[in-house]
Amino acid sequence: MAVEHTLSIIKPDAVAKNVIGEIYARFEKAGLRIVAAKMQHLSREQAEGFYAEHKERPFFKDLVDFMTSGPVMVQVLAGEDAIARNRELMGATDPQKAAAGSIRADFASSIDANAVHGSDSATSAEREVAYFFSDDEICPRD
Ligand code: PPS
Repeated sequence: MAVEHTLSIIKPDAVAKNVIGEIYARFEKAGLRIVAAKMQHLSREQAEGFYAEHKERPFFKDLVDFMTSGPVMVQVLAGEDAIARNRELMGATDPQKAAAGSIRADFASSIDANAVHGSDSATSAEREVAYFFSDDEICPRD
């Protein structure tokens, strides 16, 4: 299995709860490496662009309001099967349905304030990593 890169965002609710370190520890214990990271308070334009594929969905405004409500921590995770591995660590979108022990089961309070984002495919990962990071901001692969 080749090393993949995936984009992860620790959302405003989890940043406010001060659990960035606990979430990073889960990534690292699962064998994922943090190869780029930045804290940012997204503008509406940045959030709308990032979630553009959802712009016709009824929750789009709520999603953008939430993602611009406070700082987020954005990182690139690297590792074998990183995209699926990160999605498994995150748990289901709705924390009520998230597997016990997943990040969302442990740290999220609702479907909108759901602690983390992770790319859902190789195509999304490529677009999302490039949305936040230039090539020279990402540490070289091992
Ligand atoms: S998924 O797994 O990305 O396909 O989930 P999806 O259901 O398509 O949701 C896409 C993103 O929208 C967020 N979401 C919501 N935000 C606010 N209100 C409601 N009701 C709501 N439902 C879904 C969801 O957290 C997904 O955000 P990301 O950042 O991609 O996880």
